[in-house]
Amino acid sequence: MPNDWTPTSWQTKPATQQPLYPDLRELNATVERLSRLPPLVTSWEVDALKRHLAAAAAGRQFVLQGGDCAESFADCESSSIANKLKILLQMSLVLVHGLKKPVVRIGRIAGQYAKPRSAEMETRGDKTLWSYRGDLVNESDFTEAARMPNPQLLLRGYERAALTLNFVRSLAEGGFADLHHPENWDLRFMVKSPQAEQYHRMVASIGESLRFMESLAGSRVGEINRVDFFTSHEGLHLTYEQAQTRQVPRRPGWYNLSTHLPWIGDRTRHLEGAHVEYFRGIVNPIGVKVGNSIAPEELTTLIDILHPTDEPGRLTLIHRFGARKIAQSLPPLINAVRRTGKTVLWVCDPMHGNTESTSDGIKTRDFANIRSELEHAFDIHQSLGSILGGVHFELTGEDVTECIGGSSGVETSDLPRAYKTLVDPRLNYEQALEMAMLIANHSVKINAK
Ligand code: PEP
Ligand code: CO
Repeated sequence: MPNDWTPTSWQTKPATQQPLYPDLRELNATVERLSRLPPLVTSWEVDALKRHLAAAAAGRQFVLQGGDCAESFADCESSSIANKLKILLQMSLVLVHGLKKPVVRIGRIAGQYAKPRSAEMETRGDKTLWSYRGDLVNESDFTEAARMPNPQLLLRGYERAALTLNFVRSLAEGGFADLHHPENWDLRFMVKSPQAEQYHRMVASIGESLRFMESLAGSRVGEINRVDFFTSHEGLHLTYEQAQTRQVPRRPGWYNLSTHLPWIGDRTRHLEGAHVEYFRGIVNPIGVKVGNSIAPEELTTLIDILHPTDEPGRLTLIHRFGARKIAQSLPPLINAVRRTGKTVLWVCDPMHGNTESTSDGIKTRDFANIRSELEHAFDIHQSLGSILGGVHFELTGEDVTECIGGSSGVETSDLPRAYKTLVDPRLNYEQALEMAMLIANHSVKINAK
């Protein structure tokens, strides 16, 4: 741990994207309460994830990170959580099968409650109110009371995260996750999916191999009835993160025990800012989103600060440029990282550079652009001798219509039918599964070259 760092040293730096609470006494009392509540994850799990990420950086494993743009408190219910887990398990099975390497599953889940916004205030008609900053901060209804930042929501967020995690853990440990019964992961609306047949063929062939192995060995293949599942969220609300930053017996350093993998967003990664200050001192593996606006020298300075000892698995760079810009923006960053002599894990987020608005002003993303950015990412890393070790998606296990395209053919005119996201458009269940299949096929193709 750097000796000039404390969990509160970020408070001496400029902190962007933080809500202004009307009552600081209430905020402090809430933080005090939050700091005494038990941690959501353990240091063992955090350290285990770091080892997996180190393996992914070396190309021995592959990261699948995904979930909502913004989780909502209202969606903290069994079907929504189980469906998210189902789609991530299905995608990971497709990836394991295609890539022939272990997949590290990380949800944007159990804490993805705070959102950066481009404007502090929102105006409708003659009324101007605080922007909605996620359920951790305020409510999305356009009324003065709903939009007022409320410290009690920090506690409600912690509780929702704990409830979510409790259910995810039971599902991941129990019969639900057993590879002998992948039918548990089928989604209700899957029957009409063009992807279903290919997926079921693959599952049947995995089942056959499994039974073959087990008859050969005369016993059940170990560890196949449970899965590892990790959590992540953008570490945006520094007061929330600070309150859950703890020391643990017999391990040095400070852990953020609200999640396994916190990341810094593209809007808050200022070298002199509070987010970088907070993140440099915690021992978790950390992510940083990097977009078109980061200069190569800025990235190398960021690596000096956040990744000084080149510890394996410590730093994940999640790049998000957009299909049209990746060819220009990514190579200089890969070269800059190479000049540092350090190892990072590269992950591609093909969502955030591909957001567009329809003529009706609906925010959407086109499946073709998402796919194109991903394919470019694989090709560029390979041509520069670098490794793309994972992918990052905004997705849901529900049958929503938020992104257009894919073989199920969501069109612009379908968007209003089931447009539910509070912030960014997510791949629906079919689009997500199709994307996993395309990744598996594309990387088989480039590896055969
Ligand atoms: C996000 O992941 O929801 C997000 C806001 O991304 P970025 O920081 O890359 O813009
Ligand atoms: Co988003």
